[in-house]
Amino acid sequence: MKEYTLYATMGAGFESVVAKELNNLGYETSTENGRVFFKGTQKDVVKTNLWLRSADRIKILLKEFKAFSFDQLYDEVYSYDWAELLPVDAQFPVKGRSVRSKLHSEPDVQSIVKKAIVDKLTDQYRRRGFLPESGAEYPLDIHIYKDVARLSLDTTGQSLFKRGYRVEHGGAPLKENFAAGLIELTPFDGSHPFIDPMTGSGTIAIEAALKAKNIAPGIWREFAFDNFDWFDKKIHPELVEEAKTKEKQEHAPILASDIDQSILEIAKVNAHNAGVLQDIKFKQVAVKDFATDLENGVIIANPPYGKRLKDREAAEKIYEEMGQTLRPLSSFSQYYLTSDPQFEKFFGARATKKRKFYNGNLRTDYYQYWANKR
Ligand SMILES: C[S@@+](CC[C@H](N)C(=O)[O-])C[C@H]1O[C@@H](n2cnc3c(N)ncnc32)[C@H](O)[C@@H]1O
Repeated sequence: MKEYTLYATMGAGFESVVAKELNNLGYETSTENGRVFFKGTQKDVVKTNLWLRSADRIKILLKEFKAFSFDQLYDEVYSYDWAELLPVDAQFPVKGRSVRSKLHSEPDVQSIVKKAIVDKLTDQYRRRGFLPESGAEYPLDIHIYKDVARLSLDTTGQSLFKRGYRVEHGGAPLKENFAAGLIELTPFDGSHPFIDPMTGSGTIAIEAALKAKNIAPGIWREFAFDNFDWFDKKIHPELVEEAKTKEKQEHAPILASDIDQSILEIAKVNAHNAGVLQDIKFKQVAVKDFATDLENGVIIANPPYGKRLKDREAAEKIYEEMGQTLRPLSSFSQYYLTSDPQFEKFFGARATKKRKFYNGNLRTDYYQYWANKR
């Protein structure tokens, strides 16, 4: 089977997390900003789309070259064997991005690449006039960084954060792969208790349950590669069946609570859709009243941020309450994601470690408190 240069993309700050996930799946990796490279066949394309928890997309690197002029860009793209990749009716949207490069106009880069591919395909398929672009989608992208261009094919389609279990509710939940990445940064493996005391629509607790049960996060969905005409159609269902045999039933308790009963009802629907409703104990309780007999586990919470000034005081009062009830649970490793730079002051303890992440456009810190194991 043909071996490709593949890479995973991810949100800023999650490179090492995705690299570790790929290493655990058996791949050797090399990392750049926003990308982790590895080698693999079609089977590895399916496997990584199915199993990576914190990545965004898996792409095939088609070609890499230097591009200082539009002529050079056109010629390099034209010289690729596009008919081998794209059937005559393929839809092939091209996304263009250029950073710190001579060819800095992204719309021009994108349209030159599109034109070179159209010209080559019309030559290769001996067609006059337009290509129909009425068939399956082959999402392409061109990324130029410091004059080095990379042409890639996206095998994922809709980002991997769209697992398919979430119902829309108009709130601002964490993306599923973001939540999973936060979990990957903890020692949680399902053998010790897990608590999210401000669970909202349940994303973090659901991702924890999926990990604890070794459920592949991509098991419910389709990917762009499912529609590629040269892609071996047997691999995907085979790996889904194999993934089902790897599911585990036993794990330590997973608790998810929130002050708001109505959001908990949404969390339950999401958990049901993800097949983990029975694996999570949902409870309506304010964090100031939170108590547990469990020990030696992991707590992750994404409390309100109080972005607007008038909400800030309320958020900071909640951090104080968290300090009163959660901080004493010192056998738990504790992890809190918030954009409030004063979090430690109100929580009442300095984090062992902090890590910066962007939740959408909002800068947040992941405050990590190591446990004192009993
Ligand atoms: C930023 S949201 C969490 C979003 C969640 N991670 C998700 O993906 O849906 C914060 C949550 O904290 C809850 N909350 C606010 N004040 C609380 C309190 N005093 N005790 C417990 N939960 C509280 C809110 O109801 C809300 O669901």
